[in-house]
Amino acid sequence: MYVSTWPGLSPWHLFPSEAAGPFLFPLNASSQRTFFAARYGIYQLFRALRFQKDEVVLVPDYHHGNEVRAIRAAGVKICFYPIRRNLEPDIDQLERLSNLNNARALYVIHYLGWPQPMEELLSLCRRRGMLLIEDCALSLLSESNGKPLGKFGDYSIYCLYKTLPVPNGGLLVQNHNVLPELDRLELQPCGSASLTSRSLELTLEWLRSRYNNLGKALVAFKRAFGKVSAQFGIRRLPMGNSGFDLAHANIGASALSHWLLGHFDYQKIRQQRRFNYQYLAGRLADKATLLRTDLEGGICPLFFPILVPDKHAAARALWQRGIGAVEFWNEGDSEVNPEVFPDSHFLRAHVLELPIHPDVTPPQMDYMADQILRLKLHF
Ligand SMILES: Cc1ncc(COP(=O)(O)O)c(C=O)c1O
Repeated sequence: MYVSTWPGLSPWHLFPSEAAGPFLFPLNASSQRTFFAARYGIYQLFRALRFQKDEVVLVPDYHHGNEVRAIRAAGVKICFYPIRRNLEPDIDQLERLSNLNNARALYVIHYLGWPQPMEELLSLCRRRGMLLIEDCALSLLSESNGKPLGKFGDYSIYCLYKTLPVPNGGLLVQNHNVLPELDRLELQPCGSASLTSRSLELTLEWLRSRYNNLGKALVAFKRAFGKVSAQFGIRRLPMGNSGFDLAHANIGASALSHWLLGHFDYQKIRQQRRFNYQYLAGRLADKATLLRTDLEGGICPLFFPILVPDKHAAARALWQRGIGAVEFWNEGDSEVNPEVFPDSHFLRAHVLELPIHPDVTPPQMDYMADQILRLKLHF
């Protein structure tokens, strides 16, 4: 069996579907720009905000790393604040840090679809006169009390390709103050090699989830072809990697990604992710340790996070059995010292994500749960 990490691109997605639903926020936001990847949208936003040398943004200690690199590349000073084991910040501590640093902006990450306490954070930002920037890279289509994530703050950023089967795309939304500099940006196309390669990978993922042996053989063939084409100097922009390359900061999302966005049924995607989360929770809840046990209405979970004693060993064992588990963030910024930030280090050591995108079927979820329990990978 093969359970892909990301939703695959099915040939049916290429045909405009009658079931395609209306655009939901942020796709219908009035002020939006799409970049090749989210990190370049973050970089351009911070550049356009023109931070002074001594102005600070508060950033969570539990982060991917690409968002931190993007903020630093824009020349902005960061002060890290701690995230607790329930994935939320301590508001009093945030307030103290904001006072101490006279912070100009608060950067919040909504982890895996679960919302941060937005009323409290908004009220803190109002009291302190801080800008609120919501990182929804992992939370497209998620809501809190009926309001879409990314609509609370001044600016928000999304990764389209994490929730949807599109080859690339980071979306930046400006909710209140539209920065003319962002509107004026001239973005370049990403190039056909990058686009074809990633689209083919997504199609092969879709195929392999259904016909593992055929899909596996075609993936091996594609990899070999990729190596040969690289020797002939054909370059592809990496997608989903760690790093920040200033040379890519002015590259836009592909026309194919934009075109595909008109073909999805967004309500159904959210329903399927919620159904899969609840199904897997039903299989694992009393046996393994789940990171979150709540799933309020409107949450669109990106993955199913569990806590495991040895994350690397568990991920390796699952990959050997065809399960595309993700190690939820191995490395943070070097400034985040484990003694000062113990909870994010705990999360980095123990959180493993299981795929629950709409392609994942109940037999595949039974298979994942069985493997975890049989191999005793859980706490
Ligand atoms: C929370 C968060 N923010 C921002 C990013 C940057 O996204 P991208 O890889 O599209 O640049 C990531 C990447 O995974 C992320 O996890």
